[in-house]
Amino acid sequence: MTQEALLRLPVPPRPIAPRAPAHGSWEAARQAMERRRELRSTPDGLRPCRFEALENAAERLFARGLGLVGLAERAVRNALDVRLVEQELALPGLPAAFDGYAILHLSDLHLDGHPALPAAVIEAVRGVDADLAVLTGDYQFTDGGDFAPAIEPLARLRRALQPREGVLAVLGNHDLAALAPVLDELGFELLVNEGAERVRGRHALAIAGLDDVHRFYTPAARACLRAHRPAGRSFGIALVHSPEMAAEAAEDGYGLYLCGHTHGGQVCLPGGVPLITHMDRRGGRLPRRLAGGVWQLAGMTGVTNIGAGFSGIPARFAARPQVLRLVLRRAG
Ligand SMILES: [Fe+2]
Repeated sequence: MTQEALLRLPVPPRPIAPRAPAHGSWEAARQAMERRRELRSTPDGLRPCRFEALENAAERLFARGLGLVGLAERAVRNALDVRLVEQELALPGLPAAFDGYAILHLSDLHLDGHPALPAAVIEAVRGVDADLAVLTGDYQFTDGGDFAPAIEPLARLRRALQPREGVLAVLGNHDLAALAPVLDELGFELLVNEGAERVRGRHALAIAGLDDVHRFYTPAARACLRAHRPAGRSFGIALVHSPEMAAEAAEDGYGLYLCGHTHGGQVCLPGGVPLITHMDRRGGRLPRRLAGGVWQLAGMTGVTNIGAGFSGIPARFAARPQVLRLVLRRAG
């Protein structure tokens, strides 16, 4: 039989092996929340989404205004001007074995938001020396819509990330449950209310990676923090899309909390004062200073990465897009 004839033969269907869900039984509950578009599930209970709809309408109006005053082009240029920012963090309780440990932190990529964005992000991370890379959510541009256009840029980004100890990732409020197996497949170590460890000698980084808590909070997120909290010779790091679980992580003894979500306001008043932060915990659990940069809360250090991409409108003002290289230093 010729090779051409062989190629024309029907391909027998591959037997479908039952596959254990990669992230436990989380998916069905998450998808039920995704279908309920009018409500968000938060650590403080269900919240209506009407304020977000108002904020989105304000953003659209703002975009039209930028066009009218001739600033639209500059807004896009700013939004694509991704830079690498280096930051040392002095951390009490960090084991000496992890002094100098470098984490490349990316957040809010929204990679399919503009055709030039993936290259800008990849250029910012190219060749960066790091022990670990962490991504704190919002990979796709649409809020819960089609993520297919983000897949190829994500694959390119994953190939560009070459830390020595892997690439951890958590989901954001834009990201659908259906994106989880795609991230697994691309080589990200996705944590959905799950833990990970990095060990050096008798010491370890105890890492908890939560599903988004801004829109998709479940008690499993709180339970994950408790289950993976640092004990003995370990130092705790919480990876969460938004700052909205910072108080709980501090209560559980975590030493470092890495998040994003706010975009640092994305469009700020001069001096970087954000107008909209998309953070809304009640009862004083979330001070506004957690909207961007390095902060302290009840003995825990936190970093809110103001993000590499943009959402809503293609614009950034006084909130330059960033990727972070964080160097952990033992304090005291
Ligand atoms: Fe985002």
